[in-house]
Amino acid sequence: MTFTQQDARPELESAPGSEWWRTAVIYQIYPRSFADASGDGLGDLPGVTAHLDDLKELGVDAIWLSPFQRSPQKDAGYDVADYRDVDPIFGTLADFDAMLAGAHERGIRVIVDLVPNHSSDQHVWFQEALKAAPGSPERARYIFRDGKGENGELPPNNWESVFGGGMWKRVTEADGTPGQWYLHIFDESQPDFDWTNPEVRAEFRDILRFWLDRGVDGFRVDVAHGLIKAAGLPDFTPDPEGGSMGGDAAGVPYWGQPGVHEVWREWHEVLAEYDGDRALCAEAWLPTVAQTALWVRPDEMHQAFNFAYLETKWDAEALRDVITDSLHEYAAVGAPSTWVLSNHDVVRHASRLALTAENPQGAGIGPKSPGKPDPVKGLRRARAATSLMLALPGSSYLYQGEELGLPEVIDLPDDARQDPTWFRTNGERYGRDGCRVPIPWTADAPAYGFNDTGAAWLPQPTEWAELARDVQREDPASTLSLYRSLLAERRAHGLGAGSLEWLDGYGDDVVAFRNGPVTVIANLGDAAVDLPAGDVLVASGPLDGDTLPTDTTVWIAAA
Ligand code: GLC
Repeated sequence: MTFTQQDARPELESAPGSEWWRTAVIYQIYPRSFADASGDGLGDLPGVTAHLDDLKELGVDAIWLSPFQRSPQKDAGYDVADYRDVDPIFGTLADFDAMLAGAHERGIRVIVDLVPNHSSDQHVWFQEALKAAPGSPERARYIFRDGKGENGELPPNNWESVFGGGMWKRVTEADGTPGQWYLHIFDESQPDFDWTNPEVRAEFRDILRFWLDRGVDGFRVDVAHGLIKAAGLPDFTPDPEGGSMGGDAAGVPYWGQPGVHEVWREWHEVLAEYDGDRALCAEAWLPTVAQTALWVRPDEMHQAFNFAYLETKWDAEALRDVITDSLHEYAAVGAPSTWVLSNHDVVRHASRLALTAENPQGAGIGPKSPGKPDPVKGLRRARAATSLMLALPGSSYLYQGEELGLPEVIDLPDDARQDPTWFRTNGERYGRDGCRVPIPWTADAPAYGFNDTGAAWLPQPTEWAELARDVQREDPASTLSLYRSLLAERRAHGLGAGSLEWLDGYGDDVVAFRNGPVTVIANLGDAAVDLPAGDVLVASGPLDGDTLPTDTTVWIAAA
């Protein structure tokens, strides 16, 4: 089937200027763990298509799919070998087109992941670079350098990979001698492109057009703060407290370099050639909201993940601060704030919010981790946190399975783990597999309905039978029912497009505000809080008469 720009998206209102992304609730699909139509244990695109009605019923505005492009899957698809094709484990381009058409028919927009910082080492360009000589145009698409030391036996600088170990790998030249080194911020199978090279830029503008022509509504842009490295590649030792992506952005020579903004301006222009308000969302891990807001200036990206919000502890004052800061900083550049609590890289918030020990981003949790969460407290807080988030003006991101209240899977056996972080740190960091376990659809079915063969690329906990979607659909008190109510009320009251007015007088441990006709109160303290008059629209847990118990959020229609 051939799609043109126009007929690929006939069903969506594409009134110019509607800027749907300003208020959208966007649901992240991690394709390998969402639904597996082929039965091989890895989710796929036909699996997504088969469940579009469930997403419509949930009430989301858009989906974002983590990478499904051709890839050897060394980093679960974030190592792309061909940016213009679907990996056979996920299906075909025709399956993609069918999924996209099915989503659009239901009024659901589709954002795809694009990974521009690095390719797979199996990408044809990298294979050509390996065969070519130092200094050749083929090598100039990546970051090859001579090593230090008498015979070039030392890496060009001291940078350490986000996944652990060094950031450089030495190659063997065509004549069999030890040769140059190439840079990889992530795994050694993920060589970084050289974004100062115009050929790389032209190639990615063309890749954008490939997917825009098929009808996608936008892109989630991977590692959007990393493409440009400081000139001269100076040595740098990261802050050990900073987590795998953290650190002081101003000082890190591979994050947040000014030149990266030129790339986003180019991309902005490409998207602007298309109808329908196509959008770019930056995955940029930067320490402050103000720094991240630079990615969404009017001629750059449209949204950026609010990781400062995600990283905020379950603390009322900290939440008030980050919300105020976000609304202020993003508004200052004319962008919406976004909100997010979970994704495929972080400990699921139903576990994270009840951790009792520090857990740097990327470390994950496993059997030997300190401070393991109390699951009951974690779920209660997660429900309260999501109820708070979905009342905030702006756009929110959900991660598949959070609507089921899924916790992080802590006790994965060592031999099941697949995250390169686990291997590159020799098991010191568990990594991200615990949030990537295939999700349960049907309690009484093989692999809980993930497929019909029972195969699953990561083992599912037996407790997940109780959390399966079919069980939760029938239960008005379930987390799924809560999410459906939140999304319906959010839409009914236009909260995404609303504005926030803080309410005083509820005490330090309470987050309370009004958004249009809705009063939102989240109690993070130990003492119960008296509720104001008005109809309860939705509550994240049982109320106690006219009071709001601990770790509970309520939405009330003004009396
Ligand atoms: C982003 C992705 C993560 C991936 C990394 C390298 O942070 O979200 O999953 O491992 O980039 O592409």
